[in-house]
This record gives sequence, structure tokens and C-alpha cells, in this order.
Amino acid sequence: MTVTNPCTIAILALAGSSAVHALPGASSSASASASASASSAAAGPTGTSYPSGFDMTKSWGNLSPYADSPGFDLPKGFPVECELSQVHVLHRHAQRYPTAYDDDGLNLARFAEKVATYAKEHPDTKVGSGPLEFLNHWEYLLGYETLLPTGAATEASSGALFWSQYGRLLYRAGRNEAAWDSSLNVYPNGTARPKPTFRTTSYPRILESARWWLSGFFGNTGANSSYAEYNLVIIPEEENFNNTLSSTSVCTNGSENAAIDELIFTGISTKAANERLAKFLPDDFGLNATDIFAMLNLCPYEYATLGRSSFCALFTEQEWRDFEYILDINFYGNYGFGAPSGRAQGIGYVQELAARLQSRLIKSSDSSINYTYDDNTKDFPLHQPMYMDMSHDDIIVSVLTALGLDYFKYGPHGLPGKVPHAPPRKFHLNEMTPFGARLFSEIWTCPRNVSFTNLQEQLYKNPDLSAESNTTDYIRFVLNNAPVPVEGLTACNGSVNGFCPLEKFLSSVPKLTDEAMYQEACFGNYNITGQVGNGQPIQTKST
Ligand SMILES: *[C@@H]1O[C@H](CO)[C@@H](O)[C@H](O)[C@H]1NC(C)=O
Ligand SMILES: *[C@@H]1O[C@H](CO)[C@@H](O)[C@H](O)[C@H]1NC(C)=O
Ligand SMILES: *[C@@H]1O[C@H](CO)[C@@H](O)[C@H](O)[C@H]1NC(C)=O
Ligand SMILES: *[C@@H]1O[C@H](CO)[C@@H](O)[C@H](O)[C@H]1NC(C)=O
Ligand SMILES: *[C@@H]1O[C@H](CO)[C@@H](O)[C@H](O)[C@H]1NC(C)=O
Ligand SMILES: *[C@@H]1O[C@H](CO)[C@@H](O)[C@H](O)[C@H]1NC(C)=O
Ligand SMILES: *[C@@H]1O[C@H](CO)[C@@H](O)[C@H](O)[C@H]1NC(C)=O
Ligand SMILES: *[C@@H]1O[C@H](CO)[C@@H](O)[C@H](O)[C@H]1NC(C)=O
Ligand SMILES: *[C@@H]1O[C@H](CO)[C@@H](O)[C@H](O)[C@H]1NC(C)=O
Ligand SMILES: *[C@@H]1O[C@H](CO)[C@@H](O)[C@H](O)[C@H]1NC(C)=O
Repeated sequence: MTVTNPCTIAILALAGSSAVHALPGASSSASASASASASSAAAGPTGTSYPSGFDMTKSWGNLSPYADSPGFDLPKGFPVECELSQVHVLHRHAQRYPTAYDDDGLNLARFAEKVATYAKEHPDTKVGSGPLEFLNHWEYLLGYETLLPTGAATEASSGALFWSQYGRLLYRAGRNEAAWDSSLNVYPNGTARPKPTFRTTSYPRILESARWWLSGFFGNTGANSSYAEYNLVIIPEEENFNNTLSSTSVCTNGSENAAIDELIFTGISTKAANERLAKFLPDDFGLNATDIFAMLNLCPYEYATLGRSSFCALFTEQEWRDFEYILDINFYGNYGFGAPSGRAQGIGYVQELAARLQSRLIKSSDSSINYTYDDNTKDFPLHQPMYMDMSHDDIIVSVLTALGLDYFKYGPHGLPGKVPHAPPRKFHLNEMTPFGARLFSEIWTCPRNVSFTNLQEQLYKNPDLSAESNTTDYIRFVLNNAPVPVEGLTACNGSVNGFCPLEKFLSSVPKLTDEAMYQEACFGNYNITGQVGNGQPIQTKST
């Protein structure tokens, strides 16, 4: 999330008794296992795994440590007859302190204050007992916003992995060429290319993430800096400054629509834990839903900062699944298909991707693009084998929304809040925007008779198809190392395993731009308070 436009979601008094709708599409076996695990609070975890094999780090939404996505129902792998021509990376920063949002870091600080104040006012009473005994010596150690050392390591590791997996192919590193060397940065005719240029916002954790990623990519053997190898364009992340890598602050309307559903579901999903844990606190402590949400949230943040947390073992598997869903509602309704400006917030990057693919500078803006950064080849170079833009989690969600990818879409009213537990869905932040998340737009140049059904685990050598006359370029979107289905991008109809003919994709960008409705979505007074269905400022009629 960006910081310049805090979503003002207060976790207020919650109606825990509100009527709960039946789960749309929930199978009875899913609900049965859900209630079974909810009542078996005894089988606690060791570290972050439960005896059942359940791994709570996969339920921390955008606060999950990086892991490759298990897959979006498409096979992984490479088409080995094709040449990997180009890769565009949209990357997220990695582990950070909590943000200074009301429902994030500020809420944690308030909970810490509540515990400290109770202890101070009751010097002769223990605050916690049983599983909450640790609260008597708990110290709140977190700050706000900055990249953590674990985050720096995640970024460097991501850059190094990208070098290994893609950089070697794009720059044709051969046997025993372990790391980048500027002698590899040449055109096919052997002439040196300009130094590669990458982009980042100016926000400190984003800028530091970009540098760490690049340090990993360039693999400087002295482990000092690789500054000499690249240029970095730093686009200010400031109020009223167009920035495709942080667009929420210039797109002022339509990005706070998750609030009501998030609030309702937080109330419902924290009730059991509240009743269970209140027994281990003094009666007048006043443990409530806001506190339970803080305690859930403390686990991933302390894990990122301190390597472990006493809060993690307090909750059941179902409570972790529901915690992820609270975060999912927030992003779906503020930056995804549930947000009236969901498409608008992401369309700027899509337009830039198209411009790079068409070797075209951008001379005017109808979106979050600041064209003074895109109208010259110094800041917006063309023909690079790879691009890397360092950004935020919400931008990745909005870009997937602007692309209209149905895979992640839930329904006409967004992700529902009035449900007993997290419903089955495809939108899982832990698979989409964990810390260090990465969206690759791969460009493949393929022979005419290519088949995308026989993908191989590894591409050992990048074929050179420059002498072939009958080639076609394809684009494939790969999120956290898993290909994304292109259904919903109607120009890509008929694509096999996510490979869409590049020309077709490019022909659809004007339509995607229309559908994003940037001016209306970001600046219109359309008065929609809840979630919408299609990432546009259009209310779906209730049936
Ligand atoms: C929980 O208690 C705190 C004060 O201790 C209060 O600020 C907050 O609004 C309460 N939340 C709910 C949901 O009642
Ligand atoms: C090599 O290729 C590049 C890019 O196509 C071109 O700009 C350059 O002039 C070529 N150099 C020679 C020596 O042909
Ligand atoms: C970085 O390390 C390399 C390899 O040890 C060394 O050659 C180079 O001078 C160092 N650069 C700086 C800026 O310290
Ligand atoms: C665009 O960028 C220029 C710097 O190149 C800056 O002066 C200007 O304020 C920016 N405008 C917007 C609307 O972002
Ligand atoms: C900034 O965005 C607005 C809204 O789309 C656009 O009208 C304006 O031209 C952009 N400014 C620049 C400098 O690109
Ligand atoms: C495509 O055609 C080439 C040359 O005719 C042939 O070697 C190759 O096996 C064909 N590939 C497929 C997938 O049919
Ligand atoms: C290109 O493909 C078309 C259709 O398959 C074929 O008719 C044509 O001969 C091919 N051209 C070359 C140069 O291979
Ligand atoms: C793509 O498929 C959808 C759904 O099957 C259909 O509605 C749409 O007209 C098709 N679009 C194109 C460009 O073929
Ligand atoms: C939308 O934005 C405009 C201009 O930025 C503002 O005047 C209006 O009040 C906003 N409407 C809503 C519903 O936020
Ligand atoms: C916004 O919608 C609500 C409910 O539909 C209505 O009560 C309110 O008057 C509307 N406000 C504006 C400014 O249109």
C-alpha cells in the first residue's frame, strides 16, 4: 500500500451478531472441515507449522514471506523452441515494518499501549496468564514503514534468481559465466548496448528494494555495490505527482471501498478467538475485535522483524485463513475488481508496457503516467532485453485488474464481508503479493508451428531465431513464477497455457484504457460506498 493516501478504515464497534449469509459456492465438506479446525484450538503450531502440515505463513496475505505461487491452474515451464526475447518485471518491495495506517501499524501501537497502560495502572495484577503469560514481558519493538534487513535479503535473492533464470538467457551467458559481466551487454552484432536503466519510486523502502534487487542481479563478487552497472530513474512518490508505480495518491477517488465488508468480517471472524483469549486476561482489560486483529497482525510483523513471535501460536488454522481473507477484502475492494478505480490505478503501467513493446515514447498522459518521464529515452529507454520497475503490492493487484484477468474476479459485489469464514476464491494475496512479489511479462519469439502444450522445466540455451522469417511474438504473464490465465483479456481468446499473440494483446490496450475510465474513476463524484464488480465506477444493480 502507498502511504500518501491512507485508507481510513477504522475497526470500529462491530456487530458480531449480524446475520451471516450462507457461503456462495462453499461445499459442505469445506464448511465442515472449517468448523472442525475452528474448535480444535488445542493442536497448536510449532513455529509456523501445525501438526496437520498447515503453514500459517501462507495465510499472511501481503505480509507473507516470499514463496513461489503454487500455480494459477496453468502448467509452469518454458516453450523450448521459442526465443526468450524480453522480460518486463514489476516488483514489490520486501519485508517492512507496518505502515502508519489506522488498521495497520497505528492499531498495533494502540494495542501495545493498551497492554502497557493496563500493567501500569494495575501494578499488582498480571496482565496475561496461560498462553498470554508472555504479555507480561512483551516489548513492542516495531517502527513504521522502513525496509527490514530480511526485506533487503529477499530483494537481493530475487535479483540473483532473476539473473539465474532469465538474465543468463537474455544476455546469453555461457558455460562458467556465473555472474553478469558488462561484456555481455551487447547487441547481436557485438556492439555494446547502453547501460541498462531501471525504475523505482522515491519512497525509501522502494528505492532501497530496487538497489538490493539490482545488487543481487548484477552479482557483484565484492558484495559492495553494482551502481556502476546501471542507471536508476527515481520517480517521486509524492502527493499530486503522477507515478505509475504508486498511483493511489493521484487517483483520489474509488480506492477505499473495502471498508464496510472488511469491518463486518473482522467482527465475525475474531469472535471465537476473542472469547477464548479473554479468559487469560483480567475481566476489565476489555479485549475486543480490534485487539484480536492487532494480535493476528503482530505475528507476521514480528516474524519479519525478529524471526519469531509469541503471538503466532495463539490462533487456529481457520483463524489464520480468515485473517488472510480480511487482508484480501481490503486489497480486492480498494485496489482490485471491487474498487471503482481498481482498473484505473493499474492502467498506467499497462500503457507503459505496451509503449515499450511498441518501441514508442509516450508524449501525453490520460492516466497516472507523468509523460515527462516517458517522452525521452534517457528515462524511458526502448529495446532493453529486460526492464525492472520497483513498486508496491497494490499496484500489482491493480495491474492484474486493469488487464481484466477474470481468474482473480469474484462476483458482482466484490468479496463478501457477511460470511462465517473465508469463502473459496482465487484471490489470495499470499500467492499474489507476498513480500518481494514479482510480475513478469515475458516476450517469446516462436516459430510458426509452435506448440505450447509441451512446456519444459528448463531452457538451457536461448535459441536465436533472428534468421527465421516466419516467427510470431507472444506475451505471457507470470506472477511469482506461475503463469496467469489470460481469460478476460478477450483479444487473447484461444491462447494456450497463457501465451497470447503479442499483436492481439497490443490491439486490446486502447480498449483496456477505455475500460479503466481513468478520469471518471479517479476524479468523478459517483458516490459508490461499497464494492463493485468490475474495477470500474459502475454500480452493479442489486438483484
Ligand atoms: C477496542 O478497545 C479499544 C480501547 O481499548 C477501542 O479503542 C476500540 O475502539 C475497541 N474496539 C471495538 C471493536 O470495540
Ligand atoms: C549493431 O546493432 C545496433 C542495434 O541494432 C546498431 O545501432 C549498431 O549501429 C550496429 N553496429 C554495427 C557496427 O553494425
Ligand atoms: C567492489 O569489489 C570488487 C571486487 O572485490 C572490487 O574490484 C571493487 O574495487 C570494489 N568496488 C568498490 C566501490 O569498493
Ligand atoms: C511530472 O514530472 C515533472 C518532472 O519531470 C514535474 O515537474 C511535474 O510536477 C510532474 N507532474 C505531475 C502531474 O506529476
Ligand atoms: C498527470 O495525470 C493527469 C490525469 O490523467 C494528466 O491529465 C496529466 O497530463 C498528467 N501530467 C503529466 C505531466 O503527465
Ligand atoms: C516445427 O517445424 C520444424 C521444422 O519443420 C520441426 O523440426 C519441428 O519439429 C516442428 N515442431 C512442432 C512442434 O511441430
Ligand atoms: C511462412 O508460413 C506460411 C504459412 O504457413 C507459408 O506459406 C510460407 O511459405 C512461410 N514462409 C517462409 C519463408 O517460410
Ligand atoms: C472472446 O471470448 C468471449 C467469451 O467466450 C466472447 O464473448 C468474445 O466475443 C470473444 N472475443 C473475441 C475478440 O473473440
Ligand atoms: C471525487 O473527486 C473530486 C475531485 O477530485 C471531488 O470533488 C469529489 O468530491 C470526489 N467524490 C467522491 C465521492 O469522493
Ligand atoms: C450518496 O448515496 C447515498 C445513498 O445512496 C445518498 O443517501 C446520498 O445522498 C448520496 N450523496 C450524494 C452526494 O449524492
